[in-house]
Amino acid sequence: MSINYSERIPNNVDLANDRTLQRALEHWQPRFLEWWKEMGPRDSAQADVYLRTAVGVDAQGWASYGAVKMPDYRWGIFLADRVPDRTIGFGDHYGEPVWQQVPGELRSQFRRIIVTQGDTEPASVEQQQRLGLTCPSLYDLRNLFQVNVEEGRHLWAMVYLLHAHFGRDGREEAEELLSRHSGDADKPRILGTFNEPISDWLSFFMFTYFTDRDGKFQLKSLAESGFDPLARTCRFMLTEEAHHMFVGESGVGRVVKRSLEVMKEIGSDDPQAVRNHGAVDLPTIQRYLNFWFTSSLDLFGSEVSSNAASSFASGIKGRPDETQYQDHVCSDATFTLETPQGQGSVSLRNAMNEVMRQSYVKDCELGIRRWNMQIQRAGYAFRLALPSLHFRRSIGAWANVPTDPQGKPVGREEYERRMVEWIPSETDRAFVHSLMNRVVEPGKMAGWIAPPDRGINNLPMDYEYVRLN
Ligand SMILES: [Fe+2]
Ligand SMILES: [Fe+2]
Repeated sequence: MSINYSERIPNNVDLANDRTLQRALEHWQPRFLEWWKEMGPRDSAQADVYLRTAVGVDAQGWASYGAVKMPDYRWGIFLADRVPDRTIGFGDHYGEPVWQQVPGELRSQFRRIIVTQGDTEPASVEQQQRLGLTCPSLYDLRNLFQVNVEEGRHLWAMVYLLHAHFGRDGREEAEELLSRHSGDADKPRILGTFNEPISDWLSFFMFTYFTDRDGKFQLKSLAESGFDPLARTCRFMLTEEAHHMFVGESGVGRVVKRSLEVMKEIGSDDPQAVRNHGAVDLPTIQRYLNFWFTSSLDLFGSEVSSNAASSFASGIKGRPDETQYQDHVCSDATFTLETPQGQGSVSLRNAMNEVMRQSYVKDCELGIRRWNMQIQRAGYAFRLALPSLHFRRSIGAWANVPTDPQGKPVGREEYERRMVEWIPSETDRAFVHSLMNRVVEPGKMAGWIAPPDRGINNLPMDYEYVRLN
């Protein structure tokens, strides 16, 4: 079904034919806009931003581009098309028809998962609230805003499910999604990573590379869900999420590129010399990477989890790209797990979090390889690397086990003393912050980051992607 933009809430779920639901969402809409005004990107309400907006949900041409003031962005409810005769692809209900309504006995589990996913969306907008004030270019400012409006739309996606399928509880949860805030001492966001401040653009690129990628894998596993409206919602969200991955990968790549240019110019790879010439040295990039990667690993939960087993068994949450596996039931398969106590075998269903984390790590490695290609081509021996999955964990078997980034156990005292070598120190952060000066002249780029290979939607680099007014 195509998207109806003539309604107050654009949608492709035939909202007009469900007056109660439509009214409930129209009641939530001004609260969302209030939240956007307060917690969304700072000083941006008057800006004309070259944004893409969904106009259809099929693979071809789902987006249209044009200048939009963000408060006028048409946030709405878009589900991927229904797959006729779709059946559940995993777990105890394998092969049975998918559900169009939430089965009563799974209600609270589904609600918890939808609320947790929904909570991350506005959280990231809040984390990124002030970045626009220090953007390296109009191109980057536009990409930030694009990510922000889409995270806002992802909140809409989850709120729709809560309103449409969870009655009064769902409506209350939808309100709560606007009242928790990232980093708030009294009402923080649900997951740790989403309470970490993102106060500079290197963190933003690391966040979109590593933390949005966690989102990608959560969405992939929910896109397999037996609850069809959730699966369809997540399938469409994934098409939007691809842009966030791009912002992260190309962003870090451009910081690396600029660093290499400066190293060449000055004929030195000494970190201090690189800094003196206004670029971020590669070891600092590695420390930022260590921070955001390890923080994002925790988002997948404990290696052994009866919750994950029951989500899989009951058809709530599959594995990302479930079709790549032979066995979709996994009732007697086992998984070999490494814990601080040694190797052990656990039931595969109980290890689903770890299965997911491992597919995530593989996906993370692709970008690292590309960044390292740049470094290699420039003739330097330095290599970026993902730290060990055992390093700096706060959740699961490796929580509070002191290791170095290579995963080698170290004493508690050494662990704490050397942490400044492994994740950004106060000095690193202060230096990176010192580079964050706003550049908003069309076509101009801050000195610490290389321009991208091409502009948005085939437009030239000096296009005025944001008119600040
Ligand atoms: Fe999102
Ligand atoms: Fe995202």
